[in-house]
Amino acid sequence: MLGEIEKLKAEATASLNQIRTSDDAENFRLKYLSRKGSLAQLFEKLKDVPKDEKPAIGKLLNELRNALESEFESVRKKVEAEKSRQSSKVDLSIPGRRRYVGRKHPLTQTADEIKRIFISIGFGIADGPEIEDDYHNFEALNFPPDHPARDMQDTFFVKSETGKYVLRTHTSPVQIRVMENNKPPVRVIIPGRVYRNEAVSARSYCLFHQVEGLYVDKNVSLAELKGTISFFAKEFFGSDVKLRFRPSYFPFTEPSAEVDVSCFICGGKGCRICKYSGWLEVLGCGMVDPNVYKFVGYDENEVSGYAFGMGIERLALLRYGIDDIRLFFENDLRFLNQF
Ligand code: PHE
Repeated sequence: MLGEIEKLKAEATASLNQIRTSDDAENFRLKYLSRKGSLAQLFEKLKDVPKDEKPAIGKLLNELRNALESEFESVRKKVEAEKSRQSSKVDLSIPGRRRYVGRKHPLTQTADEIKRIFISIGFGIADGPEIEDDYHNFEALNFPPDHPARDMQDTFFVKSETGKYVLRTHTSPVQIRVMENNKPPVRVIIPGRVYRNEAVSARSYCLFHQVEGLYVDKNVSLAELKGTISFFAKEFFGSDVKLRFRPSYFPFTEPSAEVDVSCFICGGKGCRICKYSGWLEVLGCGMVDPNVYKFVGYDENEVSGYAFGMGIERLALLRYGIDDIRLFFENDLRFLNQF
């Protein structure tokens, strides 16, 4: 019996030292410490030991059991600790996951810059509906009933139970709405989306954006219009830019002009962007036609004012040297990520 105890002690101690995983630990426990394990079997044999030897052998067995159990317990704790350390280990060599950072669309960036410039000289911001009635889009803007801009070619018409509407073809109808709802003086810009039924190409799209400007007060002069537009162009394109005001026609302004800026790509020498003319057309403007004041209840003898309108896509195309307007609407991230 003594020999068996010694043998078990040696064997169990050796295999305790071999325990590496929690499976090893469980196997050890089953083999030596469980109710049918080797140790329990030795206790079982105690009943066959001669009576006078029992106390001594029993004591030895108890000591062995206590020693194995406490050593096993400490080995098991170590194994468990190692296991949880392994599973929470951070692998610093794994490549990071790429995060995509959103940014403003180039048209939004361009509109923000235009707004910043006009806000800095005292303009407020107004807006109006994209689905308009004929009255605001055309009639109150002094378009004669047979004016070609009302043609099916340019205007998207919308029919509904409450009447006939159009998708606004420009932001100018908001001029009318601002004056209907406010007494002079008014000084606002109106950024917004407009629609035209044109063939889609690199140069034109069925929807685009404009920024309208309107200033009406006592004694507003053409010189103020020129000064404001010049200030805007220098802020937006750079202080070297030159301007050209060309006489033009709009039903709601008189006199009217279109404004060209010197091509900032070639400095006016002529290039692909300015179609070798040295100039780029950027906006339409003029003094508000007195007929328009009649529609909104302003006294044409008391007030005067100017209006202007520019295309945001056009300014963005020029600013970034983009040659196809459709790129703004395709939402291709390879394009958008460049801004
Ligand atoms: N509404 C005109 C257009 O769409 C632009 C414009 C606005 C012209 C204001 C003069 C005054 O082309």
